[in-house]
Amino acid sequence: MSGGSEVREPVVHVAFDPDRAAGSLVSDVRRGLGQSPRTLPPKWLYDDRGSELFDQITRLPEYYPTEAERRLLAEHAADIVRLTGAPTVVELGSGTSDKTRTLLDAFTAGGQLRRFVPVDVSEATLRSAADMLSQRYPGLQVEALVGDFTLHLSHLPQDDRKVVAFLGGTIGNFYVEERAAFLGALADSLAPGDWLLLGTDVVKDADRLVAAYNDSQGVTAEFVTNSLAVLNRELDADFDLDAFRYVPLWDPAMERMDLRLRAEVPQQVTLPGADLVIDLAAGEEIRVEISSKFRPEGLRAELAAAGFAADHLWTDGDYALTLARRTD
Ligand code: SAH
Ligand code: AVI
Repeated sequence: MSGGSEVREPVVHVAFDPDRAAGSLVSDVRRGLGQSPRTLPPKWLYDDRGSELFDQITRLPEYYPTEAERRLLAEHAADIVRLTGAPTVVELGSGTSDKTRTLLDAFTAGGQLRRFVPVDVSEATLRSAADMLSQRYPGLQVEALVGDFTLHLSHLPQDDRKVVAFLGGTIGNFYVEERAAFLGALADSLAPGDWLLLGTDVVKDADRLVAAYNDSQGVTAEFVTNSLAVLNRELDADFDLDAFRYVPLWDPAMERMDLRLRAEVPQQVTLPGADLVIDLAAGEEIRVEISSKFRPEGLRAELAAAGFAADHLWTDGDYALTLARRTD
């Protein structure tokens, strides 16, 4: 890595305006809870408690994607550095950036990395990751961006060749139309020749998938149910968390996990902050998150449609890492 061995303080830019975020929570909730099935957008899962619970999920024995991705990164990081040679690495939805260290270690050994730009809505997690990374990589400029990767791609640096890492399978949390819009917007924000390193979970046996989202310790159920606690706090809502049961379903037609909360009894919920009252019938479900799984051919085609050539796809059969280049 260039820049000597002095620890450089991380710089944190905040693109996420809390007032606008509050407004977008209200509109997301009003729109989503009015649909059938009622839905909530997953970005609201990641308050401080949600981020902590997700971190616990990554260590569950049933949740294989994190370790599978870590192994693939360890195996191919040197190739990624050699192929891209980029001085700037951006990471979208970076969270703790735990696995990213494998990649940054290889970039550091390659000697050309100058800057790392982690982007996340979860400010506390991002700030502590930025501190950790600055200490670990003296000389590296860490420029964290507290922002929404569906809204703030224009804030990414434009002055260098870059690799944008989008790991963990987070792209699977978009609905199909949102995914195409996101990939198109990402391609538009990059220069021809820039790179996307994308982590995706692979379609597999339904039992393993359901187990990964229905862990025996109940951490995933708590993570998903925490979305209602966020609405209680942010919108002064009165969801009774104990009146819902977590229901993880595999949808074979859409090839995605569908994570829902089922009302155990009929109930009326008031959300004063969104000026909304909803009546839930017994057995009615709220869809909190989907997690799509991919096949290599489909993924290549989606990337091509957005303007990315998937030059390299590495997989262990369970999980895939794709290195794609923004085409002209
Ligand atoms: N990349 C990490 C974390 C994945 S969890 C890993 O592979 O383990 C998903 C992360 O994306 C969380 O840290 C969450 O806060 C963040 N996130 C979710 N929606 C987001 C959005 N719209 N914009 C920015 N970050 C988002
Ligand atoms: C962040 N994302 C890729 C996780 C997933 O597997 O879809 C979120 C998650 N939800 C429940 N468990 C994990």
